[in-house]
Amino acid sequence: MCGIVGIISSKEVTGRIVSSLKKLEYRGYDSAGIATLVDGNINEVKCEGRVDTLEKDIGKFNLTGNIGIGHVRWATHGKPSKINAHPHSSDQVSVVHNGIIENSTILKKFLLKKGYLFKSQTDTEVIAHLVTEYLKANPLKDTIIKVLKKLNGSFALGIIFKGQNNLMVGARRGSPLAVGYGLSENYLGSDSYALKSMTNKISYLDDGEFCIVKQDEIEFFDTHGSKVNKKVMNLSKNEINNDKGDYKYFMEKEIDEQPSTIKSCINEYVDKYNNQINIYNFPWKISSIKSVMLIGCGTAFHSCLIAKYWMEQNTTLDVSVDIASEFRYRKVRFKKNCLYIVVSQSGETADTYAALDLCKKNKMKTCAVVNVVESSIAREADLVLPIYCGQEVGVASTKAFIGQMLVLYILSTKISFDQKCITKREYQAKIKNLLTLSNTAQKTLKLDQKIFNISKVFANSKGTMFLGRGYSFPIALEGALKLKELAYVHAEGYPAGEMKHGPLALIEEGMPVVVLAPRDEHYKKTISNMQEVIARGAKVLLITNKNKDEVISENVWEEIKVDKLDNELIPFLMTIPLQKLAFYSALEKGYDIDKPRNLAKSVTVE
Ligand code: AGP
Ligand code: GLU
Repeated sequence: MCGIVGIISSKEVTGRIVSSLKKLEYRGYDSAGIATLVDGNINEVKCEGRVDTLEKDIGKFNLTGNIGIGHVRWATHGKPSKINAHPHSSDQVSVVHNGIIENSTILKKFLLKKGYLFKSQTDTEVIAHLVTEYLKANPLKDTIIKVLKKLNGSFALGIIFKGQNNLMVGARRGSPLAVGYGLSENYLGSDSYALKSMTNKISYLDDGEFCIVKQDEIEFFDTHGSKVNKKVMNLSKNEINNDKGDYKYFMEKEIDEQPSTIKSCINEYVDKYNNQINIYNFPWKISSIKSVMLIGCGTAFHSCLIAKYWMEQNTTLDVSVDIASEFRYRKVRFKKNCLYIVVSQSGETADTYAALDLCKKNKMKTCAVVNVVESSIAREADLVLPIYCGQEVGVASTKAFIGQMLVLYILSTKISFDQKCITKREYQAKIKNLLTLSNTAQKTLKLDQKIFNISKVFANSKGTMFLGRGYSFPIALEGALKLKELAYVHAEGYPAGEMKHGPLALIEEGMPVVVLAPRDEHYKKTISNMQEVIARGAKVLLITNKNKDEVISENVWEEIKVDKLDNELIPFLMTIPLQKLAFYSALEKGYDIDKPRNLAKSVTVE
């Protein structure tokens, strides 16, 4: 997780490091810090909490310097505190680190014996002392090679050295790291967002590489120290969208943007004039793909789950789904005719990246459904299907979930037609329905006031459940995840039919329960399951869709009706009230909606 930025320049760097850290705060926000060299000496300022606090503290210390590194942390080892905030410095070097050093305990023992003293509880501090130790007998480059060999685990590093105003070092294994090229200055950054305001020319370090960054040149090396040539990429000039407009929260803005992000995404894949789906550069024959494995984490995993329903329903593909952190360590039987699809908003999630890497190493066909097209995952996959929803800032994923589902639905529909599982007429009818989605989503957003009122009960409850069958089951999981991460309310998503096998025991008088029951083939069964929880005292919020027939809303506490739409597309609409429910519940409790506790937007550790 965490954000790293480093600048070496002929000009002052502190102000720019701080403003880049602000852009990176979505990656980690429990503490922040910066170190610069002033007359060759390391000066650092650190704080618990946000970059705004750091900025105020820097003001007090008047931190100057033409070379510096900064960090926003997402604690893995040692609680969030000023002492554990990065950079971690010895009397010789200062280090910022993203990732986890898995053998830090062993390295610490070795360094303690050598007389090094530790101030923090982090795994990172060993790196500062290890570099210091090796520098005693080795030149800088050899020191880096030797230190990196000693480290197990994952890292992106930025290092500055006492007395060395002319260089900084970057290194990468597992966690992403980019360098940026400027005019008489160069940069290090944990991702391109860190660098976009300063340059549009960047290169990414590959796994195991390190670099020596000077004001006028950057040299890259592999693990053994041999020079590596790097491609320089031109980034699109778009600044990141850090503007909330009239909104107080990014999450609220991102929920409300969904009708337009749906439109943008559909525009990229659907040719409205010829009524067909275009997936350009699809590198394989559809007939060569017999099965699909969908992999993701968190919300992205939920979009994979729902895609399984669509693909099984509409194609002949054999479809499996897995959580990336499980997939990467299982003894997977790789299949030549399988397409491995990884789904990730950020494109940087460590587990998803590792799952993709495993597929690549086994020479499988890989596809990435991502939002950030410059991300590590996008760079690695054979085929990239962007979700085109613009930058998502809120830690809770909303418009990206809709975008992921949309791309997977479009892919499934395209395969279905190419496999001749549906007729041309059916194919075109599906596309026609898809083109109405944006408008129907817009109408669903209008259900706002009702959800606002209901949310108070959820916010103040001890726990809750979200139930659904078929397409609605993954949506129930997603609704529960949103409520957990934003309102810190215990919430479980369950297949409605599973309640009687255990979870029904949790239902007690007054417990709010969400039941997702669209008018599909599962409707009657879900309604029976709903009555079972009502009979045990639950207050049910029923989310269904408009229909000519009377809705069986007997004993229901509250009811929300989304519009009528093709059953396959109902999950998109059902998602919206659940996002709002979580949003308003968090608002009711006064929580930090865009940066929920303990979380971060880009999960680059295991
Ligand atoms: C969603 O609200 C979460 N914050 C989280 O589950 C997220 O979806 C997950 O970490 C995966 O992220 P990715 O899509 O960037 O890979
Ligand atoms: N493992 C380090 C720590 O806990 C780095 C965490 C991060 O990536 O922010 O300090």
